[in-house]
Amino acid sequence: MRQRPRRNRKNTSLRSLVQENHLRPDDFVWPVFVKEGKGESEPIGAMPGCFRMSLDVLVEKAKEAYSLGVPGLALFPVIEDAKKNSLATESHNSEGLMQKSILEIKSAVPEMLIFSDVAMDPYSSDGHDGVVQDGQILNDPTLEILAKMAISQAEAGADFVAPSDMMDGRVGYIRHCLDEQGFTGVGIMSYAAKYASAFYGPFRDALDSNPRFGDKKTYQMNPANQLEAIREVELDIDEGADMVMVKPALSYLDVIARVSDISTIPVAAYNVSGEYSMIVAASEQGYLDRDKAMLEMLLSIKRAGAKVLFSYFAVEAAKLIN
Ligand code: PBG
Repeated sequence: MRQRPRRNRKNTSLRSLVQENHLRPDDFVWPVFVKEGKGESEPIGAMPGCFRMSLDVLVEKAKEAYSLGVPGLALFPVIEDAKKNSLATESHNSEGLMQKSILEIKSAVPEMLIFSDVAMDPYSSDGHDGVVQDGQILNDPTLEILAKMAISQAEAGADFVAPSDMMDGRVGYIRHCLDEQGFTGVGIMSYAAKYASAFYGPFRDALDSNPRFGDKKTYQMNPANQLEAIREVELDIDEGADMVMVKPALSYLDVIARVSDISTIPVAAYNVSGEYSMIVAASEQGYLDRDKAMLEMLLSIKRAGAKVLFSYFAVEAAKLIN
């Protein structure tokens, strides 16, 4: 045999010399759940090891994450039912939980990048990402609310606003409104190719944000489609996005690869709640090795082409990598 690929796998030194992809702590953005209160860290049933944290607790965790080399947080607020309504007005309350959290985290750990979620569902009594009328999700009236939300988050100090709602035209509209208000330096991390996925289940449990009727299939993408992801990404780049995301990650590695080939801006991928909980549950049962399975999954997302990894494992992975 002239060709023996095994020669390059002979020992650890050689394997690491020829290794094509590496995970680094600065690949990660850590999604976190913030709630009202003090000294609280409430376990999330469907995501063992993840917590709804009050701001004081979260600030300490943010410091720890940053010291481990994790450069960003994705913030999601847990809103009490009494504050939810059909127009998600709490989402642009300048003294709301999200706005307070951005402000405090930025003043405690200024270098930590904040990606603030822009979508109605955590604040909506309908549990949808858009305004509901007669069972329909209205696109254009939703844009107004998203823009107000984005501006209030920018005012609080967010580095990136991250629209995760999948309404048409929202990136362009948010860009226009941010610029008009003088926030030309605030970026947009667009959830460009976001699929209608069963893997969001545990997250909706965390925020109690399940749609109160129907599903999200008229705005989130059909899991059967790949070409449509290219269209969404091209539109968002054209509308002024600074980063585009593919979500979920694990069942969509082909989409990440294809999007990475054509995108001229950084591509992020969201290793979502269901992907997290699968590994945790299987390892708790003793079916697989938690650390190894986690790192292999995360590396596969990077190998597929993602530059930025949103993952609930961010801090744990950064510790292992360090
Ligand atoms: C909704 C939103 C969802 C997630 C992030 N933002 C769920 C949904 O679309 O219902 C899911 C994240 C995860 O599962 O980890 N704007």
